[in-house]
Amino acid sequence: MRFPYWRIGVFIAAAVWPVLWLYQAWADVLGPDPGKVLVDRLGLGTLILLLVTLAMTPLQKLSGWAGWIAVRRQLGLWCFAYVVLHLCGYMAFILGFDWSQLGVELRKRPYIIVGALAFLCLLALAVTSNRYSQRRLGARWKKLHRLAYVVLGLGLLHMLWIVRADLEEWAIYASIGGLLLVMRLPVVSRRIPRLWAKKASSAKKA
Ligand code: HEM
Repeated sequence: MRFPYWRIGVFIAAAVWPVLWLYQAWADVLGPDPGKVLVDRLGLGTLILLLVTLAMTPLQKLSGWAGWIAVRRQLGLWCFAYVVLHLCGYMAFILGFDWSQLGVELRKRPYIIVGALAFLCLLALAVTSNRYSQRRLGARWKKLHRLAYVVLGLGLLHMLWIVRADLEEWAIYASIGGLLLVMRLPVVSRRIPRLWAKKASSAKKA
């Protein structure tokens, strides 16, 4: 396996947050509504991990370093793990496993439908993220995995619906997402300079 320490470092960096938040909830330091805080942090964690995952290809293009791609799948799966925890937190702490309230909840919080659509897309991405699916789906795999950008759009809409007036933080995530999307456009992607790789090759020449 290439980059074993880098992979383990990424694993620890992603795993540490939910463990810390669960510990904080257990230690009762998350304020009067720890369940809601936990759901919010896991939701935000999902969005951040999605952005980080989407940043791996442009970073590889910029640097020429294969390590970014080596952790891309792991980060995508962490994003899925976070959204599963986010959903479980919602069912436990907000819905209280009272399924009879689900209809009322969907009318009260329609952004949940947007979140659920994003969740289904992430599920499809996680299930097909293995080499077997990649081989079986061939060229369609790449097309399917463009769903990540649909998830980004839905995730941002879901968040926007929740934060409403408090747009500052949302605007930061939306701008990063927009930038990553623009960098993917073939006309831009072809022009991304290999900054670090160029430096390395000119150093060699010298
Ligand atoms: C079935 C799936 C989902 C459900 C039921 C769900 C539900 C919720 C709920 C109830 C909240 C808290 C609202 C509040 O504070 O009153 C929330 C917040 C949030 N969710 Fe989701 N969500 C889902 C999927 C997603 C997905 C896929 C993403 C990201 C791609 C996401 C990102 C967020 C974000 C960023 C927040 C706001 C956190 C904050 O205010 O700091 N959610 N979600």
